[in-house]
Amino acid sequence: MLYKSLAAGVIAFGLPTFASATLIFTTSMGANATDPGWLSTIKYADGKLELINKQLSICGVNPSWLEFAGDHIYCLDEDWYSAAAGAAGGALNTLKTTRDGTNLTSVGQPLKTLPGPVSSVRFGQSLKGLAIASYGGNGTQSYDISSPDAPKVVQELTIDNFTPKKDADPQQQLQPRPHHVVLDPTGDFIVAPDLGSDLLRIFKVDKNTLKYVEAKTVPTPDLSGPRHGAFAKVGSETYFYVITERSNEIIGWKVTYNSDGLDFGKELFIIPSHGPGSAALPTTARGAELVISPDSKFLLVSSRFENSLRIPNPEDKELGKVQSDPIINYAIQADGTLKLQQISAAGGINPRHFSISKDGSLVVTALQKDGRVALIKRDVQTGNLTEIAGAVHVGGDTTFARFKEDTNCA
Ligand SMILES: *[C@@H]1O[C@H](CO)[C@@H](O)[C@H](O)[C@H]1NC(C)=O
Ligand SMILES: *[C@@H]1O[C@H](CO)[C@@H](O)[C@H](O)[C@H]1NC(C)=O
Ligand SMILES: *[C@@H]1O[C@H](CO)[C@@H](O)[C@H](O)[C@H]1NC(C)=O
Ligand SMILES: *[C@@H]1O[C@H](CO)[C@@H](O)[C@H](O)[C@H]1NC(C)=O
Repeated sequence: MLYKSLAAGVIAFGLPTFASATLIFTTSMGANATDPGWLSTIKYADGKLELINKQLSICGVNPSWLEFAGDHIYCLDEDWYSAAAGAAGGALNTLKTTRDGTNLTSVGQPLKTLPGPVSSVRFGQSLKGLAIASYGGNGTQSYDISSPDAPKVVQELTIDNFTPKKDADPQQQLQPRPHHVVLDPTGDFIVAPDLGSDLLRIFKVDKNTLKYVEAKTVPTPDLSGPRHGAFAKVGSETYFYVITERSNEIIGWKVTYNSDGLDFGKELFIIPSHGPGSAALPTTARGAELVISPDSKFLLVSSRFENSLRIPNPEDKELGKVQSDPIINYAIQADGTLKLQQISAAGGINPRHFSISKDGSLVVTALQKDGRVALIKRDVQTGNLTEIAGAVHVGGDTTFARFKEDTNCA
């Protein structure tokens, strides 16, 4: 198992002693070449959040996603600033961070990617591969990061089987738009929800060469716009869940493995993001992120542009109340279906991305519209989000927030 072998690797290098501080890395998009994007580091220690680093011009204008590999950070620049000007922008930036997260440095030059990269995942033997989904570039790429300072492109796979749907949204659905790359629990497959095509694209991976081929597609309803997904292993079963951006729904499948590969079959359910029978949402509301808890017992999704909740300003309660979008929290049942458990505040507007800590006790949200990052406490036993521990104004379009737990050692 992939995760077990990773843990074994840590032990093999000697047990680190963990400091009590938790580090969170975030991305903020800027406006243009003279007002580029930045990365921030937030430290959570002794119940306090502190912005300890903010670094400009290290990942272009539109940093969208970070992948950690030891002290290296691979940062995608979505570069829709260039795209808006008619150029085909998009880059992979290699960075190194100090262990305390206070100093990031660029390693080498940015590598050009397919336009508009938005998500990446490590895969392959020893996780030496990096797969990237390009929202603007009709495809995915893979890189070899076995020399961490010098990623090499292995493959560029553009999608050629695309037919726009009737009444397709001109902004989002007139081309293939892979929005996420998700590694399955065996490491043999990558699933890319394609928001433009209303499909999950499933790639069969060669763990050694880091090449992959499209093995099959799984349809989602017309105009649904699948955005982000995750696998959950429940008992001996495997399930896959996706949040759709345009229809703001959750879809679940039972995944089976056979000699032929993996099979999603017909979906188990399609429900609104707030659960079956929930009230209609504002037409502006869009599904954003989907995360499974580390114990595979809970599924959390964010829905954005609802402005449905009012909470004390998490950056400073003295500043009064602010609007918030929700995180919707489900208990995963033994048969893979979902039971609504809680609707909780994300901490602000447009929770485009959020992550959960490895021990399940914390959730961090990137609130794009507010330029805010909020930290939420989570009860690992009940799965409930219990309290917003605090928030930091990092500014810009805040697009990503993740715990950097592997450098969190003394
Ligand atoms: C870049 O963006 C900033 C902030 O929005 C703006 O003030 C500035 O005029 C822009 N510069 C150019 C060259 O467009
Ligand atoms: C950050 O690290 C680089 C490379 O080691 C070094 O040159 C630079 O002075 C450091 N910057 C700060 C602010 O410590
Ligand atoms: C992406 O696909 C669309 C529709 O097939 C096509 O019009 C467009 O030129 C392609 N863009 C890129 C960057 O390949
Ligand atoms: C979890 O949250 C829900 C919704 O607020 C609440 O009804 C339930 O009692 C909570 N569970 C526990 C164990 O606190």
